[in-house]
Amino acid sequence: MKILVTGGLGFIGSHTVVELQNEGFEVVIIDNCSNSSPDVLERITRITGKKPVFEEFDLREKDKVQEFFNRHQDIQGVIHFAASKAVGESVENPLLYYENNLSTLVYLLQELTAKASSNFIFSSSCTVYGQAEELPITENAPVKTAESPYGNTKQIGEEIIRDTCKVNTSLKAISLRYFNPIGAHISAEIGELPIGVPQNLVPYITQTAIGLREQLSVFGDDYPTQDGTCIRDYIHVVDLAKAHVVALQRLINSKNESNYEVFNVGTGTGSSVLEVIQSFEKVSGQKLNYKIVDRREGDITAAYADTTKANNILGWKAQSSLDDSLGSAWKWEQKVRS
Ligand code: WQD
Repeated sequence: MKILVTGGLGFIGSHTVVELQNEGFEVVIIDNCSNSSPDVLERITRITGKKPVFEEFDLREKDKVQEFFNRHQDIQGVIHFAASKAVGESVENPLLYYENNLSTLVYLLQELTAKASSNFIFSSSCTVYGQAEELPITENAPVKTAESPYGNTKQIGEEIIRDTCKVNTSLKAISLRYFNPIGAHISAEIGELPIGVPQNLVPYITQTAIGLREQLSVFGDDYPTQDGTCIRDYIHVVDLAKAHVVALQRLINSKNESNYEVFNVGTGTGSSVLEVIQSFEKVSGQKLNYKIVDRREGDITAAYADTTKANNILGWKAQSSLDDSLGSAWKWEQKVRS
């Protein structure tokens, strides 16, 4: 069965391609390589022994999207990762985010709704919840006014899919709301490759530990949490990738009563920034150079998932601990810099 993975050379996309191939799916990747590298294709091939078909173009080019689907009429499912995802950049350049993240989604759905049947997995984010009133966060938690244009594109994206599914019962879709993906494949062939200064905590930690960065700045220790630092739900990227495969299989096997569902994908456990640092120091055997600085604008205090729905309905549960995830991130950083 042939599956399209948009953004399949990216961090989460590449790990999902590996898990799809492991399950026997034939994979076609579309990626414009704006935030990924073509050599990831060889890396995926080294892991699985199977080279995905790869087409490099920008999904904003509607005619190319149409032409692609004309050539690949046997695509049975789409997992859509391709999007811009830097929160700060989205505040500076909202139109880039609304165009890139939403027009591409519309063009894909226009092709899928023209087919007799189709299966669609959307890369959403826990950012849609903002600071939830209750923790852990369930899928019924209210979707808040987005803290950034990036977060808003995920909210609007979910609404576009929901409204499309309402009038196109041939389209079956699932939105996966990721918490904080970290780590790397056990082979250290693929992992997170931030361009420039990492915005996210874990790549900044590993780059500090390897000597690329001088010191980690911890953005605030005056939050109303046990140690004063923010709490997040850090999920191993391979666990996250596997969630995409089981979600796709649910759609293909039409196990879903509704043709649109939403699932939180996290570990169900919250960890503070200082706990992440302590865990990293334990698994790496290295002291980390960090300092406490002021809070980062837009950060919420705490977010971690109630994963009951994914556990019970998808039959999926995250397997890796924080230590496992950070150990894999460290192994990847050491290999990339070797
Ligand atoms: C985690 C914690 C920071 C960097 C973002 C997006 C979210 C998703 C994941 C795409 C926070 C602290 C961080 C640093 C720090 N992205 N931190 N020093 O902000 O929870 O989520 O990435 O889908 O949509 O919002 O992740 O890793 O940036 O921050 O102290 O140098 O680490 O304050 O508490 P975040 P993060």
